[in-house]
Amino acid sequence: MLKIVKPQIAADPVNIEIEINGLSKVYQTKNSTFQALEDVSLYVKNEEFVSILGPSGCGKSTILRILAGLEDATSGSVKVAGEEVNGPSAKRGMVFQSYTLFPWLTVRENIEFGLKLKGMNAKERKEVSDKYLELVGLERFANSFGKELSGGMKQRVAIARSLANNPEVLLMDEPFGALDAQTKQSMQKLLLDIWKKEKTTIVFITHDIDESIFLSQRIYVMEARPGKIKEEINADLHLFKNGELVDVDRFMRIKKHIISLLKH
Ligand SMILES: Nc1ncnc2c1ncn2[C@@H]1O[C@H](COP(=O)(O)OP(=O)(O)OP(=O)(O)O)[C@@H](O)[C@H]1O
Ligand SMILES: [Mg+2]
Repeated sequence: MLKIVKPQIAADPVNIEIEINGLSKVYQTKNSTFQALEDVSLYVKNEEFVSILGPSGCGKSTILRILAGLEDATSGSVKVAGEEVNGPSAKRGMVFQSYTLFPWLTVRENIEFGLKLKGMNAKERKEVSDKYLELVGLERFANSFGKELSGGMKQRVAIARSLANNPEVLLMDEPFGALDAQTKQSMQKLLLDIWKKEKTTIVFITHDIDESIFLSQRIYVMEARPGKIKEEINADLHLFKNGELVDVDRFMRIKKHIISLLKH
């Protein structure tokens, strides 16, 4: 049976990496206010891969920006690794939908950017960038510039650059949203491989139902106006083996259920 549970804080607090409690966000616009999030609570365990899924405008990016410390909460509590978030930190890596490489830097320099800021010496930086170039399969493009790369390759650099800083959590906002279907699929497989190897805690924003089921162990489904968590879904899968769907029935049950949630 498909197990569906209401959002709640998990019983094992030691293992919690991200904890959001009663989060609300009201944006001040010119002459009014807009409630983007209302009473959002969710958790992500250490090394867990969790998706946040929902229609456009339901506040997915707002949650991620607040988690990243790029935006303030109006009320509620947002903790990462036991500490209240109150600004950006290298402990939280971000990958966005739009490509965010520094165009004047090579692929390797992009990956080493944060390490250089931290004061790491050139030899150590090269060791780290070599590792992540290999992880994302871009060894041959170390000296290329962003404009010479395809969209998928740019996102591989963005992922490598985030991981090179050894973040506690990786926050991804529709990172594959701008890619064609085939590239998207190979990026999803690559991301799962990386997640298994690196054991990074991942929060992944998407409005693609298939993508959320394929990638994540749990899915928070949101609704809009105001943005709220509608349901938490355990998708923990033996649905896929080596990236191929093996339990079509279960996959379809979960998918249909999510579609009905998003409809209402
Ligand atoms: N800076 C802002 N000022 C005012 N309103 C904002 C601001 N940023 C976002 N909003 C509003 O808050 C709501 C949530 O926005 P958000 O970008 O978080 O949605 P989203 O779920 O990421 O949507 P999408 O799937 O289109 O990316 C939207 O209605 C948006 O118009
Ligand atoms: Mg968004």
